[in-house]
Amino acid sequence: MHQDLDAYWMPFTANRQFKKSPRLLARAEGMYFWTPEGRQVLDGVAGLWCVNAGHARPRIVEAIRQQAGELDYAPPFQMGHPKAFELAERLVELTPPELSKVFYTNSGSESVETALKMAIAYHRVRGEGQRTRLIGRERGYHGVNFGGISVGGMVANRKMFGTLLAGVDHIRHTHDLQRNAFSRGQPEHGAEFADDLERLIALHDASTIAAVIVEPVAGSTGVLIPPQGYLQRLREICDQHGILLIFDEVITGFGRLGSPFAATHFGVTPDLMTVAKGITNGCVPMGAVFVKRQIHDAFMNGPEHLIEFFHGYTYSAHPLACAAALGTLDTYQDEALLTRGRGELAQYFADAVHSLKGLPHVIDVRNIGLVGGIELASIAGAPGKRAFSIFLDCWERGVLIRTTGDTIALSPPLIIEKSHIDQIVGTLADALKRVE
Ligand SMILES: Cc1ncc(COP(=O)(O)O)c(C=O)c1O
Repeated sequence: MHQDLDAYWMPFTANRQFKKSPRLLARAEGMYFWTPEGRQVLDGVAGLWCVNAGHARPRIVEAIRQQAGELDYAPPFQMGHPKAFELAERLVELTPPELSKVFYTNSGSESVETALKMAIAYHRVRGEGQRTRLIGRERGYHGVNFGGISVGGMVANRKMFGTLLAGVDHIRHTHDLQRNAFSRGQPEHGAEFADDLERLIALHDASTIAAVIVEPVAGSTGVLIPPQGYLQRLREICDQHGILLIFDEVITGFGRLGSPFAATHFGVTPDLMTVAKGITNGCVPMGAVFVKRQIHDAFMNGPEHLIEFFHGYTYSAHPLACAAALGTLDTYQDEALLTRGRGELAQYFADAVHSLKGLPHVIDVRNIGLVGGIELASIAGAPGKRAFSIFLDCWERGVLIRTTGDTIALSPPLIIEKSHIDQIVGTLADALKRVE
């Protein structure tokens, strides 16, 4: 197939490398993609941490088809449509009970912006308008919009874009190879990293801080799993100081860890929780913010004819997205997918990824639920190059993985079987043996 690749400026892509040697996907079903030439590629990353139920699932496909013919669009401002409300009720059955309100967005990035704005506005409506400061974490990823890159902590995503939001600070990240390398599940050491928040409180004063945002498991920076007790400690410190805690669950939401959410998995309930990706199985763009009832209720003041929260998107609660999400929840439920990534399957996955220990360049292996991270020693002066070579090698041999820096991330669809795990890890092992 010959196609002109010139006009499309691709996102988060080495455009020149890609266009010299394109990697195109034309079709997908279940655990697999197919290239335009018909070559089969096993999906080791659920698309981009989103296709949790696997590709082209019938209930989702049918829901979208039907919705497109029935109600293609409905304005979300001052209007509604039944599926938006039905979906919200279904969603809050899955969240921790306190998170009982849902605000819709169209992506993880928009969910993050929404949550940050809600946090600042919440303090204002309850008379603490001086609480405007936002605290993120080093190495955090919260999408690509200005709020998200300001609280985010990945330098390449920040350095090109000016001064970002004012009034943002960061706690330290939790990566500690010296003490925690090759941990299975939650690392033993590092609960005290949460105390770094106390340092920022001492510097800025709690009365100026609106919220802290973290990924319960950091994905894009290379799979960093929270040390035992860390999230609990963060929750305690926020409670002591009246600071809202936001969990960015864009990748951990919808079964990735073997529980519906990281909040349910770790038993720590944030005040706001952002999701996207798995909410529609990646089929139609959608995100959401879950909020505690008292946060929502604080806005429900003043004359009833007035808008309470001046925020929303043309495509909030888009009918196609709502239909896709309902089909997705049905599929998750029918196949008990939100808890599939625990127990024996997770054990098998853990054993498989940890079998890579000892192969050339492997300096750490991390895992939780159906997430695996394999960190490689970098080539001096060329960070990221080694992992990228592995990515290309695996692609040539029919397995899609993902890399960030020199960490390989695995996050397969939750329908994965043991034979797929063997293929992914076997292909990776061969690539590790070959790479320079
Ligand atoms: C934790 C987290 N937050 C936000 C985002 C951004 O989501 P989106 O790309 O849908 O804007 C991502 C994407 O990977 C993510 O992992």
